[in-house]
Amino acid sequence: CGIVGYIGHREAYPIIMKGLQRLEYRGYDSAGIALFDGNTINLSKTKGKVDDLSARSKQEISLAGTLGIGHTRWATHGVPNDVNSHPHYSNSGELVIIHNGIIENYDSVKKELQKRGYQFHSDTDTEVLVNLIEEVKKKEGVKLGKAVQIALNQVVGAYAIAVFDRSKPDEIVVARLGSPLAIGVGEGEFFIASDASPFIEYTSNAVYLEDGEMAIVRLGKEIRLRKIQDDAIAYPLVQELKLNIEEIEKGGFDHFMLKEIYEQPRAIKDTFRGRLRPNEGIIKMAGVDQNLERLLNANRIIIAACGTSWHAGLVAEYIFEDLARIPVEVEYASEFRYRNPVITDKDVLIAISQSGETADTLAAIKLAKERGAFVFGVCNVVGSSIARETHAGAYTHAGPEIGVASTKAFTTQITVLTLLALKLAQEKGTYSKSRFREILTEIEGIPHKVEKVLESNPLIEIIAAAYKDASNFLYLGRGYNFPVALEGALKLKEISYIHAEGYPAAEMKHGPIALIDEHMPVVVIATKKGHYEKVVSNIQEIKSRKGKIIAVVTEGDVQVRELADHVIEVPECSESLSPLLTTIPLQLLSYHIAVMRGCNVDQPRNLAKSVTVE
Ligand code: G6P
Repeated sequence: CGIVGYIGHREAYPIIMKGLQRLEYRGYDSAGIALFDGNTINLSKTKGKVDDLSARSKQEISLAGTLGIGHTRWATHGVPNDVNSHPHYSNSGELVIIHNGIIENYDSVKKELQKRGYQFHSDTDTEVLVNLIEEVKKKEGVKLGKAVQIALNQVVGAYAIAVFDRSKPDEIVVARLGSPLAIGVGEGEFFIASDASPFIEYTSNAVYLEDGEMAIVRLGKEIRLRKIQDDAIAYPLVQELKLNIEEIEKGGFDHFMLKEIYEQPRAIKDTFRGRLRPNEGIIKMAGVDQNLERLLNANRIIIAACGTSWHAGLVAEYIFEDLARIPVEVEYASEFRYRNPVITDKDVLIAISQSGETADTLAAIKLAKERGAFVFGVCNVVGSSIARETHAGAYTHAGPEIGVASTKAFTTQITVLTLLALKLAQEKGTYSKSRFREILTEIEGIPHKVEKVLESNPLIEIIAAAYKDASNFLYLGRGYNFPVALEGALKLKEISYIHAEGYPAAEMKHGPIALIDEHMPVVVIATKKGHYEKVVSNIQEIKSRKGKIIAVVTEGDVQVRELADHVIEVPECSESLSPLLTTIPLQLLSYHIAVMRGCNVDQPRNLAKSVTVE
């Protein structure tokens, strides 16, 4: 979910609505807003998107008020409908809350409150929380801030909340545990949001709450932070925002996803900029240089991540083992954290996360730390929870990724992980000096090669038109390009709702081959250096069963061209770098198919970009 709040001298409505639109990537099954003009609270909420809320609120309520809070939801407790949407009132109608996260013990708290006469209109855990705050306020005779603090100490779960009180028109109380929350500090005004994007045009100063902190945001006062647990005062660090407005707008593209696909040459370059020094034959990465000993002494590397980031982890497994000769295990963070895994202080855990907020990945990090492992983060969002929770790390410099289906985050994650593996390889001496220099130079050339792949866009659009009505797709690859096949299938599933499976090409004969007939499109990555002859055999197996073959091949290929129904060429490159090129056509293919099927590419149904619940 995404949360936004405003208190100051401007009308809150337009600020909150625009903010919600920018946070819609975080969830978009329902949305709501509450405005307070000092006398009346006006609340409007609806199932659907922020646009639906905009239409409804204009008809339904007065839009006046210089205090307001808004919410865009990704449902956890309770189906997405009008009633379950946020904000939620307390029973007396005096308190109003928005919440991102989960209150785990909401059921027992709810029963207690019901015994005391509280009534509930929604199925949400959030309505329980706001009534608990109200109950504490009444029972203890305390003000809102204190009541929030006491109530939060009685609940178990994760949250970023903003709540206001009709009797306090000059303040909003906020708190966070496990879900992000930023406060923008302007002149006589404050902004509250899940990330800084809703307020970058108003202020470049922000305070990011740490886990377990709360703040009373009061007009005319400086921000004061407190620890929720013991009331200790924490001093706010006002940070200067580096984000600029162009980065979060579509810039002429129809969709963020397409813009982000096209940004990859720049994003990959930004990710290695300053780190790669082919002339000196070195890679500079501060987080690695400062912890070299610890990384080199690793018995093994465990990679934990979710979704597309997990696929980047799988590519990294090939790179680390092949180049640096370090054993690697790649784990779904959600499985790893609950498996009682064997972890020792000789292990290094690499956590990969675009958002830096994924709840399962964060929990995996905490577990690994408790058991003595050294934890290295690969994140895109600067200052995110995972970036802060890890011992060291390296950022991908992809810039904000807004399309829910991850694209440039994936290729920049692979870029960072390649640099890391190469650096360790160099230190360990598993790679010859001359080959090392060669590959650094080759990496420098990758952005240009990605640009060449993007030139195939019109051809890919034609292929998409031919297969847009298929009900299944198979994606095959071997070696470094097996995870690319998985990622290609995930992209298609996510945004076009066509069922797709990624498989290691050789494994096809142990099952998926049974699915192949003249209706089954099979996307095969068949570049020259990756077990080419073996993949050609796999293609023949598909062809003899009449499957339709869309092959990603190396420029100038003739053999596969003869067999395949369609070929998309990528420039020649080392096998270890090939995922950076072969991924691109698969992103474009799923993009065009989804557009042709009339799907909402940037906000696919049921998904959210940042999953802060487990
Ligand atoms: C969600 C997103 C995916 C993303 C995954 C992991 O499911 O829709 O695109 O890959 O979370 O997110 P992270 O921010 O940890 O990389």
